[in-house]
Amino acid sequence: MPALISPSILSADFANLERDLGLIAGADLVHVDVMDNHFVPNLTLGLPVVQRIVQVSPVPVDVHLMIEDADRWAPAYAEAGAASVTFHAEAAQAPVRLARELRAGGVRASVALRPATPVEPYLDLLAEIDMLLVMTVEPGFGGQAFIEGTLPKIRRARAAIAAAGVDTWIQVDGGVSRGTIARIAQAGANVFVAGSAVFGAPDVAAEVTALRALADAELGGV
Ligand code: DX5
Ligand code: ZN
Repeated sequence: MPALISPSILSADFANLERDLGLIAGADLVHVDVMDNHFVPNLTLGLPVVQRIVQVSPVPVDVHLMIEDADRWAPAYAEAGAASVTFHAEAAQAPVRLARELRAGGVRASVALRPATPVEPYLDLLAEIDMLLVMTVEPGFGGQAFIEGTLPKIRRARAAIAAAGVDTWIQVDGGVSRGTIARIAQAGANVFVAGSAVFGAPDVAAEVTALRALADAELGGV
């Protein structure tokens, strides 16, 4: 399974998003963090901005919704042309119905778990989703330290996916860097969000390549 790198534009220059998207043309996806100042204590951007990002991005758009009432808002991000839409389990009333609605809209459906949310109650959801996002920091801000205690959850999720015989991707988000990515890959993740590590690097494109190589070394690269 090849590693996929999804740089988070939360650490890009919001006045120069199109320019910064050009810097990550060698990435696999671009991660767009939508925050509503209710589910998380921060506010970023919404549907009109995502619609424009989809139009100008050189890579598919991976939307991470950190908003309340996901059931109501998530389908519009599928309609906007995102490749995948992630909603938080803690913010959805009917996650199976929502995942089915997203898939019917032609996007990869994904469920996110905060660091303290256990994966076990959601294992029966695996067949209904394309990706599970294990948050490895508390959602809301870039530049936080990776929470080591999330590694066992990634391992348990990978084992459950294997046991279920499904090919759900595991995405990790928060504190991913050259220093942490190898052991996160070893635990079983295959999609890596990195904000500050990528956009804070002196050579953004080279950082994407370096992170992918470190993860592929653990995943086998194929
Ligand atoms: C945080 C966001 C992340 C953030 C990660 O709530 O979901 O996507 O951009 O930032 P880093 O990679 O700097 O930890
Ligand atoms: Zn995110």
